[in-house]
Amino acid sequence: MIDTSAPLSSSSAYADAVAAAVQAAAAYYTDGVTPLGDDEYDALVRAIAAYEDVHPDERLPDSPTGKVAGGAVVGDVPHSVPMLSLDNVFSADELAEWATGLERRLGRPVAGLCVEPKLDGLAVAARYRAGRLAQLITRGDGQAGEDITHAAGAILGLPPLLTEPLDVEIRGEVLFTNDQFDQANQIRTAHGAAPFANPRNAVAGTLRAKDRPYRVESTFFGYDAVGLPIDLDHTVLLRRLAELGASTAASTAAHPQYCATVEEAQQRVEEIAALRAALPFGIDGVVVKADAAADQEQAGSGSRAPRWAVARKLPAVHKVTRLLGVEWNVGRTGIIAPRAVLAPVVIDGVTVTYATLHNPADITRRGLMIGDQVFVYRAGDVIPRVEAPLVDERTGTEQPIAFPEACPRCGDAIDTSEQRWRCVRGRNCQAVASIRYAVGRDQLDIEGLGGTRAVQLVETGLVADIADLFTLTREQLLALDRMGETSTDNLLAAIATARTQPLNRVFCALGVRGTGRTMSRRIAAHFGSMAAIRAADAAALAQVEGIGAEKARVIVTELAELGPLLDKLIAQNVGTAETAPTAAAAATTAAAGSPLAGEAVVVTGSMTGALAALSRNEMNELIERAGGKVSGSVSKKTTLLVAGEKAGSKRAKAEELGIRILTPEDFADLVTDLLT
Ligand code: IVH
Repeated sequence: MIDTSAPLSSSSAYADAVAAAVQAAAAYYTDGVTPLGDDEYDALVRAIAAYEDVHPDERLPDSPTGKVAGGAVVGDVPHSVPMLSLDNVFSADELAEWATGLERRLGRPVAGLCVEPKLDGLAVAARYRAGRLAQLITRGDGQAGEDITHAAGAILGLPPLLTEPLDVEIRGEVLFTNDQFDQANQIRTAHGAAPFANPRNAVAGTLRAKDRPYRVESTFFGYDAVGLPIDLDHTVLLRRLAELGASTAASTAAHPQYCATVEEAQQRVEEIAALRAALPFGIDGVVVKADAAADQEQAGSGSRAPRWAVARKLPAVHKVTRLLGVEWNVGRTGIIAPRAVLAPVVIDGVTVTYATLHNPADITRRGLMIGDQVFVYRAGDVIPRVEAPLVDERTGTEQPIAFPEACPRCGDAIDTSEQRWRCVRGRNCQAVASIRYAVGRDQLDIEGLGGTRAVQLVETGLVADIADLFTLTREQLLALDRMGETSTDNLLAAIATARTQPLNRVFCALGVRGTGRTMSRRIAAHFGSMAAIRAADAAALAQVEGIGAEKARVIVTELAELGPLLDKLIAQNVGTAETAPTAAAAATTAAAGSPLAGEAVVVTGSMTGALAALSRNEMNELIERAGGKVSGSVSKKTTLLVAGEKAGSKRAKAEELGIRILTPEDFADLVTDLLT
């Protein structure tokens, strides 16, 4: 594959780069797929332009620089007015430079800017005669495009009839929303056609196709018009388009916004960029336009792009990499989920090595094979996902993906009746892992159950969940292999102690998703009893510090699944001991004499002296009992660092910030009354 990151050092490297760019643009603007991602394409065109700056005589006629659509010529319907492209900038600094250049050209400050999403679809011109849609044309090379009028009926937001009988050409972008994309792929695969790689690749193919036996809907967003009686300011023009019945991005969270200053525009650019992952359609940048018609006219346009508008490109969210393998992981509810192992690929600054593959049916539908080059998608915080293979890039060495025939964790059968496969044991498939977690030092702290003993208890059917531990009898244990009187008594004693563990630890032992030790302490302190936690709905959970609406929903679902287990624990009075209070609770209830009241404490290094035996969780509990607040990292808000042996960077940072530092021994003196 061509290296797009290095400058071009020879005329043959330049010629190769031009050929690669032409091929990629042709694929992009028709319906092919190209292994060259958007970022790489942009980098390649920049390298070509840099080479041409230094060697103007060597410029090749098919070079993509200075051309709309990188020279991918399609169509023979002449445009009334050329359909231009946009110049790109790639950072806030470059955007500021563009704005300075524009104002220099105008000789005055720009009279406001409109900031709107750069919709990742296909530009079209919709010609209306007396208010009736007469012809739909692609952008093509900007001078002439392809007639796609046949596709107009399936494009939402592009009305067959305007609200006024005007002769006007409305321009904008046709795209697939994420839902439309999923529907399109379902319809296509039901008809035996290969699914589209991603929404952007799907649009050109769909709009250009004729005589398909099925209908696939897409969406239009208008952003320009030719032939309105007067030149309108851009924000006014967008309102006018909506009045005429066309849809615009105004109906979306990333709505176009008027900004009086360049600073405001920069801020709106950041806002739209931050919204990207949550939008129901793809954007590949943010467009900034001089709003005033007079500014636009004065700035004018070049042959390729207007000077009054610019696209602030965002990093690509789709990248191509190789599918190296598929792992099958059993989740805590017994769901068996495939996960793609990928050749590492950087997407928006993050190296992606794993991606979700949803479920087996999805793998089949996408026709994936091990060794395939695949599109991977990642935006914001979403889990990266594999979208589709680049079938044309296959070498013949690809291998089919093997589906498991038995549960990869416990070897029992798989329930394949639903799309998401599940071990027939459901949650119990995880029983051993769940019990090992539950008896850990920071949860129920039952020594002797972390290893093979847990397997033995589960396999003999004595224990299916943690509540069963509390009903084990001496006789049952003595009957087990390698279980003598002493081990039995020790285990029963440890279980009896565990019964008196505070609620936060018992709750933590359940391993509810999203609730570690700290969150379990907060939940326990907030609700006070297992019965109250069991009865909590999402709204009640969202009252707890650190639980947002989404997390609350996840916890409620988990609690519902764990309902029978919770009932057993409640019936057995497990977890009724007093809970270690959270910092907030401690601060309000503790007397002012709490030794750590108002302190924000960080612990680092290994503890010694009286604290040597405490796990980090027990240290945290101690600090909270003493009225302090625990944090994992040193910041300006930290007031105290407990630095044990081998304290490293946290100690250095605390010293730099002038934060009080105590040895474990001095700290133990401070909280001595609370040490038991
Ligand atoms: S304005 C003269 N506005 O991006 C006006 N274009 O990379 C030029 N695009 O060719 C276009 N969203 O296909 C404009 N809000 C938006 C856009 C947008 C997407 C596309 C359009 C353009 C391409 C340039």
